Parts: sequence; C-alpha cells; structure tokens
Amino acid sequence: MASKIPTLKMHNGLETPIIGLGTATDIQNPNVEELNKAFDAALDAGYRLFDTAALYNNEAIIGDFFEEKFKQGNLKRSDIFITTKLWISEFQPENAEKAIKASLERLRTNYIDLYLLHGPTPVKIENGQTVPDLVPHIETWRVLEKYYKNGTFKSIGLSNFTIPQIQDLIKQAEIKPHNLQILLRQMTQRGIIIIPRSTNPKRIHENINIFNFTLTDNELKKFLEIKENTRNFLWDNVEGHPWHFVDSLRGKN
Ligand SMILES: NC(=O)c1ccc[n+]([C@@H]2O[C@H](COP(=O)([O-])OP(=O)(O)OC[C@H]3O[C@@H](n4cnc5c(N)ncnc54)[C@H](OP(=O)(O)O)[C@@H]3O)[C@@H](O)[C@H]2O)c1
Repeated sequence: MASKIPTLKMHNGLETPIIGLGTATDIQNPNVEELNKAFDAALDAGYRLFDTAALYNNEAIIGDFFEEKFKQGNLKRSDIFITTKLWISEFQPENAEKAIKASLERLRTNYIDLYLLHGPTPVKIENGQTVPDLVPHIETWRVLEKYYKNGTFKSIGLSNFTIPQIQDLIKQAEIKPHNLQILLRQMTQRGIIIIPRSTNPKRIHENINIFNFTLTDNELKKFLEIKENTRNFLWDNVEGHPWHFVDSLRGKN
C-alpha cells in the first residue's frame, strides 16, 4: 500500500518529496526490464521523486516509462519529480547547453524539477586522457540559471561540492543553489531528502515504509554522534584534479 510521503519546501517554494528512488544501476549497461519493474513498484509504493543523471544512461528508459504512464492517463507530469544532473565533461557552457537539451529529449519532458551540477571537477578528453578543464563553476552555473529563469528547471543545485566550493558559488550566483546533497540514509526526520536505490520491488516498498514511526530525540542523537567522515564514491577518475572534493576528507584542502 502506498505511504503518504512528506514533502520539504525548497526556499523557492518548490515542494520536494523527502524520499525518492535512486536509479543508478549498471551505468554501462542498464537493464531496461529491471528498471521498468522497479519504477512500477516505486509508483505503487508511493515514490514520486526519481533521481537520475546523464551519467546513469537511463534517462531515455525513464522518459519512455513515464511517457507510457502519462498516455495511460493515471499519472501526469506534475505528479512526479525528476532530478537529473550535468556530467563533468559537459561544463563548458556550449556543451552544457547541448547536454541539457539532450537530457530533456531523453526524458521526454519540457521541464526538469531539479537540475544539478554532478560534481565540482570539470574535465575534458585530451589525447584519449581525461584531464582537468578548469571552467569556473559560475560559468556553468549561469547556464543553469538561464534555464531556471525560463522555467525549464524548477530548481537548480549542486552535488558533491564541498562547503567552501558552495560558498564561493553562492557569492557569485544570482540564483542561489540548494545544497540538495543526496545519498544520505534515513535522515528524513532531520529534514534530509533521501534517494535509496533498489530494483527489488519488496525492498522498494520497505524503503518507503518509514513514515509510520518516529525516532526519539535520544535515538536521533545517537546518529548525530557518528563522526565518521567517509564517502562511498571517491571519483578516482579525476584523482589529482585541483578541485577534487574528496581531498577535503583527506586533509589536503
Ligand atoms: N550525486 C551523486 O554523485 C550520486 C552518487 C551516488 C549515488 N547517487 C544517487 O543515489 C542513489 C542511491 O545510491 P547508493 O549508493 O545509496 O545506492 P547503491 O549502494 O548503489 O544501491 C543500494 C543497494 O542497496 C540494496 N538495497 C536497497 N534497499 C535495501 C533494503 N531495504 N535491504 C537490503 N538491501 C537494500 C540495493 O539492492 P537491490 O536493488 O537488490 O534492492 C542496492 O544494491 C543512486 O541510485 C543515485 O540515484 C548520486
């Protein structure tokens, strides 16, 4: 049975479900059937936020899935919330423009609820090697601002940026980013949006069935006492990049 999902109001008024479905499976070779099953289970369970990225190679799968659902008439575009992200190889403004159009096309939509810069380490390919391409963040952000202002993006934000990188951008940005960092666990009670990934229908249901109980303050405090400073994704492909966010955990910046 579908749970009633709490929403969080962004500072621009946009209501965002506090839990969404993570969709990054095998990014080289996503399994269409498995993902379609997962999306059906997720809708059935009450998920309305779907977190994707150009990198995940599944925007077209999501686009096809929802186009079909909308045709069937039980669901409309405004019932769902789509997050997608600009990959770091597309941060040059003219590349960003192309990548945004391609994402919209693949997702078969004329707007995106939340559009993120996927990470702070822009790169380019030179002689077959991935090398840093130090496009100032603000130059790419300006492209996002343009699409925010014309209504194509309902909100824009950053993913994997360090606090100093966010603060630096905020100083220059016209539209201030929501630090809609993802990948955090059962933090909804602390007002943190979560996007657990599962393609297993039973687990998809389990993961959303968390709004019928409340943790005590003492229980919450225990979570806050965990001081471990770790990341699951070390972005080794841009190891040594001067803007690498993981270095801040290693005490390098
Ligand atoms: N912005 C970024 O840079 C970034 C980085 C990482 C992730 N993300 C987003 O965050 C999402 C989640 O990423 P993640 O790293 O947390 O997920 P993950 O570790 O890739 O996948 C979750 C794993 O947990 C299993 N699982 C899920 N629910 C479970 C349950 N109730 N009991 C037991 N096992 C369970 C899933 O297996 P089954 O499928 O078999 O259930 C899956 O193997 C991604 O899909 C993506 O959308 C974004």
